[in-house]
Amino acid sequence: MSSEVQEQFPQIISVAEEVRSASPETPEEVEQFRIKYLGSKGIMKSLMGEIKEIAPDQKRFYGQAVNQLKQEVEARFEELKKTASAKQKDEAKQSIDLSLPPENRTLGSRHPLSIVRNRIVGIFAKLGYTVAEGPEIEDDWHNFTALNTPPDHPARDMQDTFYIQQDPVVLARTHTSSVQIRVMEQQDPPIRIVCPGRVFRNETISARAHCTFHQVEGLYINENVSFADLKQTLLLFTQEMFGSDTKIRLRPSYFPFTEPSAEVDVSCFICKQKGCSVCKKTGWVEVMGCGMVDPEVLKNCNIDPEKYSGFAFGMGIERIAMLKYEIEDIRVFWENDIRFLKQFRSAF
Ligand code: PHE
Repeated sequence: MSSEVQEQFPQIISVAEEVRSASPETPEEVEQFRIKYLGSKGIMKSLMGEIKEIAPDQKRFYGQAVNQLKQEVEARFEELKKTASAKQKDEAKQSIDLSLPPENRTLGSRHPLSIVRNRIVGIFAKLGYTVAEGPEIEDDWHNFTALNTPPDHPARDMQDTFYIQQDPVVLARTHTSSVQIRVMEQQDPPIRIVCPGRVFRNETISARAHCTFHQVEGLYINENVSFADLKQTLLLFTQEMFGSDTKIRLRPSYFPFTEPSAEVDVSCFICKQKGCSVCKKTGWVEVMGCGMVDPEVLKNCNIDPEKYSGFAFGMGIERIAMLKYEIEDIRVFWENDIRFLKQFRSAF
């Protein structure tokens, strides 16, 4: 600052000197510095205000000097701010004690139904099956009619349906067989898919049944697919799932969309067929339904039943999980009690 300023406005000079020698270090001290000099009631503001007292011919000169000082103070503030925050970061680094044990982090775990679904899908993936998914809200065609279950068919009573709308019918799907229809409509054989997903049935909730549960259904369509292929596929699956000594038994059954149809039992892996409460002393437990795809269903999806045949199967994920983990009440899957969920660990 010029010697002229020095002589005429010593107050500006003394503030400039003060600012140059100030050495706030922490971010808090730097903030104090800002308030003191640049704040709305700060020293710079009052120096500006003093212009009123200055003789008219000096005003311009005074104003310039104050502005120059203000720029200097602002630059100094920016500089101090930078140094203070760099220093703070440095200190934070130094204060990390690498010898301390790590914080105990609690990891979440997969839901048992996800673990079982992933296992089922994983086993079929090894056999070349890919995953297909579809909507949970369906029309009548995909959930029933295309599956050889026309409106007045008594088999509709087998599954108590949640209807969302009549005419045209909109419903909550009762099985993931609807996804198989969607895939067959869009894809030419060979088809090899598994359809995992949530399904809905209007049932009273109890220890054994829930109105919402999960299924994995499977479908294989190709030339010359036989019942023997179905049986071998299911044997392979159940042995991977329940143990290599598992045996299976197919009991004749009925589904509108398969012919012939069967219920699949596995040898009780809990008591090794000695008889227990899970197999009700029979040595066998039912795990799924299956059958050869009815030619009518193929026709509904524009697949030539003279050329192609196939099999389908479907199982409840809750049921498989209950058997595998010996869970007696299906409702625990929905309660999300952390003490229950914590017991399940899986890498997948
Ligand atoms: N869709 C049947 C059900 O939900 C299961 C099933 C699928 C049976 C495929 C046979 C073939 O009960």
